[in-house]
Amino acid sequence: MRFWIGVLACALVIGCDGPSPAMDGGPDGGADGGRVYEPEPFEPTAATLAYCPRDGAAVEARITALLAELTPAEKIALLSGSASAVIDGVWEASVNTRLGIPGLHMLDGPRGLSAFSGKRGTAFPVASMRGASWDPALERRVGAAMARELRSAGADVLLAPTINILRHPRWGRAQETYGEDVHHLGTMGVAFIEGVQSEGVLASVKHYAANSIENTRHEVDVVIDERTLREIYLPHFRRAVEDARVASVMSAYNQVNGAYCDLSRHLLTDILRDEWQFAGFVESDWIWGTHGSVESLRAGLDIEMPAADQFRRLRRALAEGDVTEAEIDSSVRRVLRAQFCYGLDEREREDVPSVRESTEHLALALEVARRGVVLLENRVADGAPTDAPPVLPLDRASISRLVVLGRAADVENIGDEGSSRVSPTDVVTALEGLRMRAGAELTVTHVTTLDDEARAAVAEADAVIVVTGLLAADEGEGDIGAGDRSTLALDPSEVALIREVTAVSPRVIVVLEGGAAITVSDWADEVEALLFAFYPGQRGGLAIADVLFGDVNPSGRLPFSVPNAEADLPPFDNVSATVIYDYWHGYRHLQREGVAPRYPFGHGLSYARFAYSGLSLSASRIGPEDDLIVRVDVTNVGDVRGIETVQAYVRAPGSRVERAPRDLRAFAQVELGPGETQTVALAIDARDLAFYDVEAGAFVVEHTSYEVEVGASAEDLRVSAPFAVE
Ligand code: BGC
Repeated sequence: MRFWIGVLACALVIGCDGPSPAMDGGPDGGADGGRVYEPEPFEPTAATLAYCPRDGAAVEARITALLAELTPAEKIALLSGSASAVIDGVWEASVNTRLGIPGLHMLDGPRGLSAFSGKRGTAFPVASMRGASWDPALERRVGAAMARELRSAGADVLLAPTINILRHPRWGRAQETYGEDVHHLGTMGVAFIEGVQSEGVLASVKHYAANSIENTRHEVDVVIDERTLREIYLPHFRRAVEDARVASVMSAYNQVNGAYCDLSRHLLTDILRDEWQFAGFVESDWIWGTHGSVESLRAGLDIEMPAADQFRRLRRALAEGDVTEAEIDSSVRRVLRAQFCYGLDEREREDVPSVRESTEHLALALEVARRGVVLLENRVADGAPTDAPPVLPLDRASISRLVVLGRAADVENIGDEGSSRVSPTDVVTALEGLRMRAGAELTVTHVTTLDDEARAAVAEADAVIVVTGLLAADEGEGDIGAGDRSTLALDPSEVALIREVTAVSPRVIVVLEGGAAITVSDWADEVEALLFAFYPGQRGGLAIADVLFGDVNPSGRLPFSVPNAEADLPPFDNVSATVIYDYWHGYRHLQREGVAPRYPFGHGLSYARFAYSGLSLSASRIGPEDDLIVRVDVTNVGDVRGIETVQAYVRAPGSRVERAPRDLRAFAQVELGPGETQTVALAIDARDLAFYDVEAGAFVVEHTSYEVEVGASAEDLRVSAPFAVE
């Protein structure tokens, strides 16, 4: 811990000197005049060619020539970061100036340009909120914008996306990932990576694998059976490699089945390289993420970050014959491939402030926040006739006094203060957003203490908005942030505040902020409306106001289940040395147990309403490699334009192994005006119906009967049809 604090203190101060073991000169590091070394021949493969956005064959030939030139010491120096602090605002690795090897310049992270850069950058909504947009095209634009900001700060590797499964909402870094479902998570992660890499920046997908506990992240051994590993914890990483051609992968701190991830040959070589044909490099997670020298290298780790702690032993190991130069060369090749395939040697690293927090990027941050807010409850005012309109949207013309209160009302609440921290120039809080959008006729009063005067203001208000939930002090990264959450419940003093307000006001709207599910069942029936606003980024306050006033029709859908009680979920153990991750979590767990959630996965209300009809399938029987096209008619039966997220779940009642009651296998969105109908087409890839057959060591698509169910959430399925794979 003390070490991390030292690193951070140093890292945040630009120009802070770190040791620079780049070894690109000096007695050991420089050219070795007398040596004649012939590297092993290398034939480009389909995988190396597909990895490379440039002429892959030329890149491999150039690397082979460099492997002959580089001294052993220079090669080993390429396999670690340069210092345990940022240098000129980036984490630097793999530089060799003698031979024109530009190196890698890394920065976090999942919600914008890292504060470690020492520069201001756009604070986008956190990934869990972006997950709630269920809009991969939007996420692609976020990835591209983040990459542009990163590049403008002299970096070329973006340490994102985080695509660890949200196994439990108490995980401190829940906000960094897209949600609990494998298909949804993979789709959003692929979109982000494609966006990043379209800007010539290398994405580094993390944390591989099964990393979803903070407080014991450096030691915990996650025990997972092979089927669960393959079906629940890895498919989205596979898609990052196979579909998005991600440039790099970060190994996780934790252990999986008794091996630290950087020491796991099963994860890094057998699966990642041999099965998925990953041709990029693997770097360790920072500081304590590398647990061996030769052992890690052999398992498949290429770069120790942020500096050579373990890997400095490689020189002696090579001298003593414990590792061969050919083994070192394999990793060096991957590190150089990434640099040359992305043309890092041909580009100037520049500082271009105008790219950061540009008008376009701030508008995108707002757009994403508007798309991510999830409306969970919307009822008529207490005491009003049941056919009266619900409290939301607020009608500016018919109200004159709003009262705003709650612990998050006027806080710049943009998320964790760990490695994903971003430093925007300004943040629009919820209170500020409401004031900016209220218009001249509406008075917005902020109440910080509920004294007699404030109580009177609450009682007289046309509506009361309580902005509450979690702050950075409640959840975040281990070591440098708040770590795991201690409870899923809202702070008791905030619940008491809500109750005091509902006792006197018939129109109470609660806006919850936080990274993932907060349990609300003990008080939510007492409020008239409830929104989940995550950590909505630097323009989040405006997005919240836009939804409350109906200038934006909410379209966010939960990327996770909200249980009634924490006991409904699998246990979250952040104290034991060993934890077991079984096949069940999220909606799959709740449905298997027959336990109703408070709000299901995929749920979110709109100011419109949508009806489903006319399900049809492209075929009732498909082959094991075919796509099934599912068509459904969706009609907006409400009064305002809105976006519906159409979700297709598949059941496999004829399976010979236990399956989840249903699994999300496709989703699509449609925007409809009042009365409008559109046919939405969803493609289900039969290969996604496979289960992992441990005995066969392979995914198997069963030739059996299935059922597709289409609807608005995992619990709100409107139409269904059977089909078979033969
Ligand atoms: C985090 C990584 C991050 C790295 C560099 C580590 O503590 O786990 O996600 O990319 O620091 O900031």
